[in-house]
Amino acid sequence: MTTQTEENPKTSEILPTFPVDKINRQMIVILDFGSQYSELIARRIRETQVYSEVLSYRTSAEQLQQLNPQGIILSGGPNSVYDEKAPECDQEIWHLGIPILGVCYGMQLMVKKLGGGVERASRGEYGKASLYIDDPTDLLTNVEDGTTMWMSHADSCTKLPAGFEILAHTENTRCAAIAHHEKKLFGVQFHPEVIHSVGGIALIRNFVYHICKCEPSWTTEAFVEEAIREIKAKVGEKRVLLALSGGVDSSTLAFLLHRAIGDKLTCMFIDQGFMRKGEPERLMEIFDQKFHIRVEYVSARDRFLEKLKGVTDPEEKRRRIGHEFIQVFEEESKRLGPFDYLAQGTLYPDVIESADTNVDPKTGEKIAVKIKSHHNVGGLPKDLRFKLVEPLRKLFKDEVRKVGRSIGLPEEIVRRHPFPGPGLAIRIIGEVTAERLNILRDADFVVRDEINKRGMYHDFWQAFAVLLPIRSVGVMGDQRTYAHPIVLRCITSEDGMTADWARAPYDLLETISNRMVNEVKGVNRVVYDITSKPPGTIEWE
Ligand code: XMP
Repeated sequence: MTTQTEENPKTSEILPTFPVDKINRQMIVILDFGSQYSELIARRIRETQVYSEVLSYRTSAEQLQQLNPQGIILSGGPNSVYDEKAPECDQEIWHLGIPILGVCYGMQLMVKKLGGGVERASRGEYGKASLYIDDPTDLLTNVEDGTTMWMSHADSCTKLPAGFEILAHTENTRCAAIAHHEKKLFGVQFHPEVIHSVGGIALIRNFVYHICKCEPSWTTEAFVEEAIREIKAKVGEKRVLLALSGGVDSSTLAFLLHRAIGDKLTCMFIDQGFMRKGEPERLMEIFDQKFHIRVEYVSARDRFLEKLKGVTDPEEKRRRIGHEFIQVFEEESKRLGPFDYLAQGTLYPDVIESADTNVDPKTGEKIAVKIKSHHNVGGLPKDLRFKLVEPLRKLFKDEVRKVGRSIGLPEEIVRRHPFPGPGLAIRIIGEVTAERLNILRDADFVVRDEINKRGMYHDFWQAFAVLLPIRSVGVMGDQRTYAHPIVLRCITSEDGMTADWARAPYDLLETISNRMVNEVKGVNRVVYDITSKPPGTIEWE
């Protein structure tokens, strides 16, 4: 995106490290210039079954040469190429002979650096635009003339560099897609990666398959095979500890590690008392009894409740839960240990977005300084430093689900709704007590039970109950009641970043409301949350 307001875009800081990250498979590298869509480009490429990574725009031509990708994509970014601090890539990359596709800012940079002209357009172009094809070959093969593409730019290419041709235009933008066919340099002013770009996927496939000559080699099976081989090679006969939460990441990790190292893996499940009704029991049933993956159940309900006494502030709740988790984890890992490795469910977006690991200067191995996954607070004590094993660190969430499924993780876990680490504790507004937990757990059970009965579980991104710390008057039979309202929150979403309240059928709402008021002691009213995100958040705390 081109706006001139932000001077210092946040770009990926990841540079390739050698030889550790050297990949023996075809890949497309995305050089990140600070676009909010860089990760999305990577996901789109992977959807074509070709591996892709997001790297810093500072990655040198030499490093790229060593990585030897089949293609390079220059992302968009918030700068104008004429900004003083505009990020620029190594100028040698144009001469590597590797096909390059510049997207928005990436295209403007290519144009400017290769001797063309970029200017602030008299009219910027934002939103959907019809793309008219002038040259329906390579990049635009099978992209329909007049297809919708998503535009977001203030600057435009006004003069093509030598050897370039126009491939397509829009009403406002003459050079909407350009190419130097011989050098395999391409630029598009729109964002083919976003969902609103109807012909975007076809264009990406053309780039990946026809121009970069990639084969669809990034498959779940290939990943699993390689991951198991790598885990075996790294861990050998050593012992690995994994904090299992029952979510899809840690569960997939448990299955993968168990397949690779069997009983050298110990999973620890800390029951904080904030899970849904029946969930801790179900987790033990699935892992321990059904799949014979060793899980140490740690009952810590009273400890967590004690720590939350009198606490009403949401962040303070999270902080105390995180802190207590580390305490319990430390004690229990000493009791069960020693362990050589800690397995973490770090995913690729965590790798791109944060650097939360340190490298041991002596061994060069990564050390955990934070417990990831659902415990985003607190750090591991200094004397409890584990070496890390993170087999999912190259994967996006949807890829984790595929991996989980392919190695036998039950569908009920693979497709489980997201559930916050602090669990029901942040759905009880105000103080968390045993009594209030019971009320919320029972109310929440009604939601799950009803949507399951109707086969509607997968119609929602999340569906849950929230307990409010107020009371209202009601009447049941001849009796006046004075009890708590429950908020019912059912939402739809693509990724949890934005969400809409679900247009749930009235009869579902009616049944849930009736059942909550009748079956859950302490509840006499149910309200439905009709706030989208933004401006609301999914959770109430
Ligand atoms: P919000 O409420 O920020 O939630 O719109 C976005 C997604 O994140 C989940 N969530 C959490 N997950 N620890 C977690 O592991 C937390 O403290 C936490 N708070 C919110 C939420 O359920 C939704 O899926």
